[in-house]
Amino acid sequence: MLLSEPIHDAGVARLEKEAEIQVLQEASSEALARAITGADAVIVRLVPVTAEVIAAGQRLRVIGRHGAGLDNVDLPAATRRRIPVVYVPQANSISVAEHAIGMMVALSKHLFDLDQAVRTGEWQRRQVIVGMELEGKTLGVIGLGAIGRLVAEKGRAAFHMRVLGYDPYVSALPAGVERADTLAALLREADIITVHVPLAAETRGLIGRHQLAMCKPTAYLVNTSRGEVVDTIALAEALHAGRLGGAGVDVFPVEPPPSDHPLLHAPRTMFSPHAASHTEESLQRMAVSVAEDVLLVLRSERPRHVGNPEVFTK
Ligand SMILES: NC(=O)c1ccc[n+]([C@@H]2O[C@H](COP(=O)([O-])OP(=O)(O)OC[C@H]3O[C@@H](n4cnc5c(N)ncnc54)[C@H](O)[C@@H]3O)[C@@H](O)[C@H]2O)c1
Repeated sequence: MLLSEPIHDAGVARLEKEAEIQVLQEASSEALARAITGADAVIVRLVPVTAEVIAAGQRLRVIGRHGAGLDNVDLPAATRRRIPVVYVPQANSISVAEHAIGMMVALSKHLFDLDQAVRTGEWQRRQVIVGMELEGKTLGVIGLGAIGRLVAEKGRAAFHMRVLGYDPYVSALPAGVERADTLAALLREADIITVHVPLAAETRGLIGRHQLAMCKPTAYLVNTSRGEVVDTIALAEALHAGRLGGAGVDVFPVEPPPSDHPLLHAPRTMFSPHAASHTEESLQRMAVSVAEDVLLVLRSERPRHVGNPEVFTK
């Protein structure tokens, strides 16, 4: 059993009862391809499981993805080899939703600027750093799945926000969420925009230059979904030009982002290193759940969460 990155001890303990574990020293696809040759199972967090990695895993019987998205696993390549890809839906939804709300609060109150002002002896900057109340503002939620629904609910319950939701694939919206018929309608009205779609061909670049131009110049954008969903160069330009109020970004197209990436030098931004799901509770739930599903497959039993269920029927 190969782990591309360390996972919570509770998951390791679960695995060790039935398997011998090896953790990669370097979290990369290349290192994974080299180490996978003798493994019958692999669990990855963010390391891409490419077709090359899968081809190198001659003995591979199961791929475990420690998290909800499956965009870093070449699902068709796994399916061709009839290798089930198990994953962990919803185990991190609460943490990611809380992180998005945390970014909304921190941005709208300029908490990091205020913190800096005290540390650098610029107490009087409080005259010019003026925040915004969330109460009564419009929260635009793009993607109303597990995480988006929680953010919508918390925005309404905690801050009495008006919530607009855009998700063409959801027929019934959660109570109290108004449907935006188009993405443009949401972008034009929202004071805070929060993105919770999976990365797919359709969502790559969903928020680009054109979409950013539709936003209110005071709007805050929070992205905890996937880096490629937002055009980060266009986002940096909008922030530099004062065409957007601010941005909270947990995910980047290349992680970590290069130090000269313009977004890192844009004003009114706050970042986290793809850490929205990094709470004790969520890391434990993800590790235990993926470990159990991987072990089920190794015992030739049916896993609970599988991204390519057709491998069991064809
Ligand atoms: N930052 C992190 O650490 C972290 C952790 C967990 C998940 N995520 C990301 O968040 C994403 C959402 O997670 P989730 O658990 O809510 O997923 P989910 O599958 O429950 O919900 C995704 C929603 O997006 C909607 N959607 C798909 N395409 C859309 C489009 N073009 N426009 C609008 N809506 C669209 C779907 O209909 C679905 O309702 C994941 O796919 C993952 O990429 C990030």
